[in-house]
Order: sequence, then structure tokens, then C-alpha cells
Amino acid sequence: MIPDSMMLTKQQGGILKTENLLSGRIALHGEIAEIKRVYSAIETSLKHQESSCLVITSSIAGEGKTTMVAGLAAYAAKQPGERVLAMDLNWYSPALHTFFGAELNFDVNRLRNFDSILDIVKPSGLNNLDVFPAVRFNSDHELSFGESEAIAIHLIQKACKEYSLVIVDTSAIYPPNRRMIDPAIISKEADGVAVVALVNATPREDIKRAMKILETAGANILGMIANQWKNPMM
Ligand SMILES: Nc1ncnc2c1ncn2[C@@H]1O[C@H](COP(=O)(O)OP(=O)(O)OP(=O)(O)O)[C@@H](O)[C@H]1O
Ligand SMILES: [Mg+2]
Repeated sequence: MIPDSMMLTKQQGGILKTENLLSGRIALHGEIAEIKRVYSAIETSLKHQESSCLVITSSIAGEGKTTMVAGLAAYAAKQPGERVLAMDLNWYSPALHTFFGAELNFDVNRLRNFDSILDIVKPSGLNNLDVFPAVRFNSDHELSFGESEAIAIHLIQKACKEYSLVIVDTSAIYPPNRRMIDPAIISKEADGVAVVALVNATPREDIKRAMKILETAGANILGMIANQWKNPMM
């Protein structure tokens, strides 16, 4: 399925290509061939069984993470027996909620103290798919240093108890920002991470550095998703 010429040499996984079809809402129908291929490859690499957590990240911003998470989640939710949560842990630049017409979470305290993840997720409008929107902060001081990662890990652990597949949208690895949840820390907690890169746009050095960071963090790198969309901003 993945041509040899496209295989990464150092990573465990391969590169999967997406075509230019994944614009926002179309991806949500989850019937696009590229989404299907990406999902199958990820499912195999994850050795997906009862409950898995998949993180989607990228080396720099705007490479198509959120679009991919929405498309994969919508597709996965259509598979027999799957109960899926699309989780936005990109609190620095939240966007996943916009795909599902959901509101951002405003109450950080609620995340410090909840029994079941089911009490704080929102319906996506699609069967077998819930969404956990990002948190909006009023100030940088609402969380102490490292607390957002601790909350994020707790959320993932709780989510895995209720869902067969948790797909996490994260910030890009570069540039680091004090308000963002570190994608490498989140990836280490997950069963696997896939890295989105824009073909002919993302600098190779950035991809290598991002991969190194994930590897050093101890993440299970499933492979890259080569997004062939041409972002006019890059
Ligand atoms: N394959 C694609 N086909 C068409 N449009 C795409 C594709 N991939 C991404 N886009 C568009 O590119 C823009 C950025 O995509 P997206 O928001 O998914 O990136 P991101 O990596 O989540 O960005 P950020 O780092 O800001 O979170 C969006 O307008 C999205 O619709
Ligand atoms: Mg995004």
C-alpha cells in the first residue's frame, strides 16, 4: 500500500499521501479515499484493539492537523464497534470545535475535578463520535507551569476508559510557546503519533527536528502523513 520509495528510513512507519480534497467539511463525511487509506494504515500500525489513543501533530503550524483529526474521527466513527472521541489539545490555537459547531470549554476548574469524561464532552452531530473542544483561558496565569500537560494526560486516560478510539489534535512542535501543551509529552502518553507535513512546503530540517523530539520523548511514531494540499500562506 505504501510504495517503498516513500518509506522513511528512520521512522517505524511510512508516509501516506493525501490529495487536495480534504477541505474542512468534506473531510467530515469521512468517505474520502485518502482518509480511508490513512485510517487503515494507522489502525494497523497501532494494532488497534479495544481502546487506542492516536495523536496527530506536525512540525510547524498550519500543515493540516485539525483537518486530518476531524476526517479520521468521522471515518473511524463509521466503523463497526467504534466509539470515537476527537479531542482538541491545541489550546494555543483551537479549531477542532469549528468542524462540529461546538463551543470552546471556558471552565478550567471543571477539568481539574470531574468523574467521567462523558460529563465534559460534547456531541459532534455524528453517530458514535463525541468531541472535546479546547479550553479558552482568560489569562496565562490560570494554570501553573506544567499543569496543562498534567490535565491533558488525565483527560486522555479518562477518555480511554470510555472510547474505543481517542484522536488528539495538538499544537505544532515549533515554535514552542508557554501557553501550549507540549505535543511530545502528549504523544508519549498515547499509543501512537502520526506527523502531518505539507508536501513541498514544510522544510525537511523542521520535520527531522520534530521527529527527533518525538523520538527522544519516547513516543511511538507511526509515520508521516504527507498532505499534498498547497497552503497559500506558506
Ligand atoms: N488536504 C487539504 N485540502 C484542502 N485544504 C486543506 C488540506 N489540509 C489543510 N487544509 C486547509 O489548510 C488550513 C490549515 O489546516 P488545519 O487547520 O487543519 O491545520 P493545522 O495543522 O491544524 O493548523 P494549526 O497548526 O494552526 O493548528 C485550513 O484552512 C484547512 O482547511
Ligand atoms: Mg489545528
